[in-house]
Parts: sequence; structure tokens; C-alpha cells
Amino acid sequence: MCGIIGYWNTKKESFKILFESLKKLEYRGYDSFGFATLFNNQLFLTKQTGKVSEAKCEASPGTLGIAHTRWATHGKVNEKNTHPHTDCAGKIAVVHNGIIENFQELKLQLEKNHLFLSETDTEVIPHLIENYLKKGMNLKQAIIKTGTLLKGRNAFVVLNSDTKEIIAFRNGSPLIVGIKKDNGCSEVFIASDIQAFLDKTKNVMYLDDNEIVIVKEIPEFYDVKTGVQIQKRIIKIELDVESAEKGDYSHYMLKEIMEQKKTLTRVINQDSKELMHVAQKINNAKGIFFIGCGTAARVCHTAEYIFSIVANKHVNFVPASEFENYKHFLVPETLVIAISQSGETADVLDALKIAKKRGSKIISIVNTPNSSVTTIADFNFLINAGPEKAVASTKATTAQIVIVMLLAYACAGKLIEGNRILVDVAGKVNDMLNPRYNQHIKNLAKKIYQNQNIFIIGRGINYPMALESAIKIIEVSYIHAQGFAGGELKHGPIAMIEKNTPVIALVANDELKNEIISNAIEVKSRGAYVIGIAPENNEVFDYWIKTPDVSEVVSSIVNLIPIQLLSYYLGTFRGHNVDYPRSLAKSVTVK
Ligand code: G6P
Repeated sequence: MCGIIGYWNTKKESFKILFESLKKLEYRGYDSFGFATLFNNQLFLTKQTGKVSEAKCEASPGTLGIAHTRWATHGKVNEKNTHPHTDCAGKIAVVHNGIIENFQELKLQLEKNHLFLSETDTEVIPHLIENYLKKGMNLKQAIIKTGTLLKGRNAFVVLNSDTKEIIAFRNGSPLIVGIKKDNGCSEVFIASDIQAFLDKTKNVMYLDDNEIVIVKEIPEFYDVKTGVQIQKRIIKIELDVESAEKGDYSHYMLKEIMEQKKTLTRVINQDSKELMHVAQKINNAKGIFFIGCGTAARVCHTAEYIFSIVANKHVNFVPASEFENYKHFLVPETLVIAISQSGETADVLDALKIAKKRGSKIISIVNTPNSSVTTIADFNFLINAGPEKAVASTKATTAQIVIVMLLAYACAGKLIEGNRILVDVAGKVNDMLNPRYNQHIKNLAKKIYQNQNIFIIGRGINYPMALESAIKIIEVSYIHAQGFAGGELKHGPIAMIEKNTPVIALVANDELKNEIISNAIEVKSRGAYVIGIAPENNEVFDYWIKTPDVSEVVSSIVNLIPIQLLSYYLGTFRGHNVDYPRSLAKSVTVK
């Protein structure tokens, strides 16, 4: 949450570059945004509420600058609380990502001599730095001292008008340096995500936790605990710019749904030796926990069913935010499998810390290479789905399910069979994603988008998929949606069914088919408008969305595709910007 950038060069005006870069980080938060540039030893601040992508701003002068796009945590969405924040003298500007857990006590002390202008936790940073500078420290020392005082996960970038320096600190929230050299002009970026400068350079240097970097022609990295300078390698990254752009699509969400034509095939292509190696670890483990948040948590929940069906194996699913309650069961032989698109979700990172402390081994299933989760894990599976920008996860979700399936098949000693099944399903998804299919789902969205409630029911593996369906619909359409296990309907939810309440039944061609159809009949007799997502039509369906006839386990993938499209069209019919749902952010780096 929150995107931060710093930009250093000696020739080009920084504002326009920062403005364009900030738009690329908007998925991290879009409540408000701000800039600080430096010209003639003076800081120029620009702050606005709303989205940077929809804004018009007058450029401020200067070749150095920092910028921020905010997802509000401490303090309302207004200009006063918008970053950058400054010290009393207006010489130190700071952009920050994270939560300073001890900000109240720090602020209480500082307020005796410093004037605070905002309600944010961030504002303690410039005032602390100001204090240490007054005590005779240089900027680097003052930033190290300040950074190490902050509790929680934090990253911040400082622009100082006196020394004309940009220095960044990282402990828990991501920061990456990008370096460009062109016709004698050097440019250096520091940002929360590569996306911010991917169109400018692919040469990056990773800042690790408890490190600072002085952003200049040759960036200098220091360990904050020892003060010792660290040598870093420049890494050339593989991502291409197009994969991070919308292209001809009206929204990233639709683009990313359609990309599943390729991403599923790509993710299947894993190293079978590595899969077998991890499968052996799973088979020998004392306790296996799948952990994740949001949609990734639903994939973890699905893993319980996948391992049960495919490998006859019990695995546990725990939402990462609840994992601490399970710490007593963790021993060195326990395996914790973290699923995360971003690899930066705060609750996942905290859960992994707990696992590490208990000596348990960690496997990750992530989309973002070199993200924090990958640096903690003992072994990483990259899903290679390419940048996922829409807040609602789609292509990452199905790719994550594929890895879980490959692992389950590998555990069962049936990896070749698993591969064959998944190649087949990738082809079927490719066929599903055609204009006629989209139109059929759009027609349904048109019929139901004004409803207040939508219910989704499923049994077996389609129960966690029903829960995921509800998340998807809520996230982008703000229609109240709830997913249930078909059998649970009669224990409460059925009371909510009125005439024309849409109920979506997720059906697979499995042993549970008749039971879920019975549940559909029960809601229909109470007036529900029954939508069947199923391989075959049934008289109970008022609207049928055909899915390929696949096994129960892969029905989790094919049944999600129409749900993703339906959510997309529900959101757009209701006039929402589905890529940036209200109050949500793509990368949840705070607890
Ligand atoms: C946010 C996103 C979801 C995502 C969840 C976990 O809530 O909106 O799409 O599932 O975070 O994120 P992760 O990056 O760990 O998968």
C-alpha cells in the first residue's frame, strides 16, 4: 500500500518523470498523491487528493524529486495528510510506505519542540531527522538513527534541500533502485516497484531490509546496523514494458482475465525435478500449512481439496493473519507454503517470520520475483503470470491453483498425468475466452447488476471457489455477495433468498453434482434467479453458463473464468473503475 519514488539526475527536469512513474504505482493506493522537487536549494511541494492518473498538475522545477501515491491509514484523505511531509524548517521532505507502530510515543516527545501539520504517522520521520541533524549528525547518520527507531514495516525516501541528497531507508516494505545511463546522462530511480521505471531501465539493484541507499550516480548502500558499505550487483530484469500496460483493453482487469489464454500454459512449464524435490518434502513433512491473504487465501483453501482429491493427503489452510494461533504446531519438520501474488503482503511476511523462528521450512508460490516473500522462503515457485495490476486478482489466481495442482500430482507420483490434465485445461480456457462467451456473460451481468445481493453456492472444491467468487464480485461491483457450501444453505443463508435474488451454482461433473443441483432447486422454490455455471444445462437454471466438462479438481479453474468476467461486467455496468476499487489496494503492505 502506498507507492513511493525518488528520482535523481543532473540534467532533466524531474517532475514529469516522477508524474509518469507515479501513475504506474497507482495500484498501490489512490486516495491522494504528492511531489517534492528541489530547485535552488528550495523544496517545491505539490499535493492533491484523488488519482494521479486523472490529475492535471503544474510542474515544479528541479532535477531531484520524490513522489508518493497514498492509501490512507493514519488520517483522513485530504491534502494536509498527503505526502511528502516535511520538518519544521521545510528542508527535509519525506515519502513513506508502511505503518510506524510506535508513532504516538515518538510524536508525543517531538511535539514539545516541533510543529505537526498532519494526522499521519509519517510526519514523525522528518522531525526526527531534523532533531538528529541539529545534534550534529550528517543526513546519512540521521536517517539511520531515525529508521532504526521506527517499529513496524517501513520504507521511506528523504529529499534534503541543504545537502541536495536523496536517501532511502528500507525495513519491511519494498524498495528497488533503477539505473539508467544514456548519452552521458545518468538517472537513478528508487521506487516501491520496478513498474515505476520499467519503461526507462531494466537495470536494477535491490535494497534489502535494514539497509539505506544514497541515491546518486553510483548509488551507495549501507547496512544500518553496522554502518558498513555494501557492494551490490546490477541485475538486468526480464520483464517487458508491454506486459505492464493496458494496451487496447479498457481495463487491466479485462486484459488480465484474457491473458489467462497464455498464463496457464506458461505456469505449467515448471521444472519437474524441482516439483518432485518439493513434493518429497511435502510427503515427509510433519504438518503442512498453506497460508495467504484475500484471494490467495482462497487458493490455499482450495489446496486442502486438491491435495485430498489428488494425493490423498491432509494439508491445512490458515489465513496468514490468523497463523500466529497455530505456531504451537510448528516444528522444524513442518512445511509452510505461502501463496502471494505480490510477495509483499504484511500478514504473510509476519506469518513467515513466525515459521522461521520455529525452524519450519518455507515454500513460496509467488508472482513477483525478488519480492520479500521470495527472500524469506527456502524454495520459490514463480507463477510467471506477468504484472497483475488490477486490484482484483485473476490471472495470478488460476496460475497459483496450477502450481498447487502440480505439487499435489507430484506428491501422488502422478506428475506426468497432472501435466497432461493441466495442458488440456489450459487449452479449454483458451477456447472459453472468446468474444461470444464474453458477450453471454455480459448479457447476464446486464440482467442482475442492479441487485443488492448475490449468493454463490458450491460443494467440494467449488466451496472455496464460491468464497472466491464472492470476493471477486464484492471487490469490483460493491454488490453484497456471499459464498456458501451448498449444504450450509439451510442453516441461515436461505432466509435471505427473495424473489429474483441471483444465486450462482458452481457445478462440476462429479459425485456432488446432484446435491448442488438439489440446493439450486431449494433456492429456486423460494424465488431465486438461478444461474448455473456448469458443463451441462439443467431445468433448474434460469441462466446457464457452459463450462468445459473437466474433472472435479480442475473445475476450480474453469468455473472461476466466468465469475471473473461476470464480476468485471457487474462492476462496469455499475459505473465503477474496476481496476481501482474504493478503499482497496493491490499490495497490502500494512497489517
Ligand atoms: C489484496 C488484493 C487481493 C489479493 C490480496 C493478497 O487484498 O486486492 O487481490 O488476493 O491482497 O495479496 P497477495 O499479493 O499476497 O496475493
